[in-house]
Amino acid sequence: METTEQQVVSMPRIGDKAPEFRAVTTQGEINFPADYNGKWVILFSHPADFTPVCTSEFMTFAQMEPEFNALNCQLVGLSIDGLYSHIAWLRTIKEKIEFKGMKNIEVNFPLIEDITMEVAKKYGMIQPGESSTKAVRAVFFIDPSGIIRALIYYPLSMGRNFDELKRALIALQTADKYSIATPADWQPGDDVIVPVAGSCGVAKDRMESNDEMTCYDWFFCTKPLSIDKVLAK
Ligand code: BEZ
Repeated sequence: METTEQQVVSMPRIGDKAPEFRAVTTQGEINFPADYNGKWVILFSHPADFTPVCTSEFMTFAQMEPEFNALNCQLVGLSIDGLYSHIAWLRTIKEKIEFKGMKNIEVNFPLIEDITMEVAKKYGMIQPGESSTKAVRAVFFIDPSGIIRALIYYPLSMGRNFDELKRALIALQTADKYSIATPADWQPGDDVIVPVAGSCGVAKDRMESNDEMTCYDWFFCTKPLSIDKVLAK
């Protein structure tokens, strides 16, 4: 593509303040992220109402909403459709659609109308190489002080893994609460990683200590963290 034709896509990054907006949603107007102060939020986009992959995703998210709420996390969806389309689609899902044993599913979290693409553009949800009229499947994890802590993007063709979204949320919360990191494929209850020693003294102490930590070398130390502690309120 010629440089002059290139469209610049601005994307918030990890550690940025979540861009602010006011929007109309299926649950009334929201002032984002101020209305969610003190809570985690998963803000996610989907390409379009009345499409099959999106429908399967909404049903899954709606079914799991109580699990996210129990983790002090609110869900907020968005697509580049109008409010009446959103309402009609969510009614159709409840009345007609069955997926993986789920039926009669009511979506109670807000779905933003974003016909103008204002919010989608602020969050880099429009990725012209994929589509210039539909949002890709973006997921933003925003912490209780309104900071973006993780983001995951999927193309139009791929439905998200909602167990992974829940795992990622718990991993972020656990890292904050216990000042640890989580290793590859970590699940709640697995051992966690003790942050790398920042000085020679700490590295020596780590290798010589016989507390609950297991150090394979000075830079690779793990310790147990029970599932009860991970999920404690
Ligand atoms: C879907 O949700 O099924 C979908 C939406 C846009 C493009 C392709 C699939």
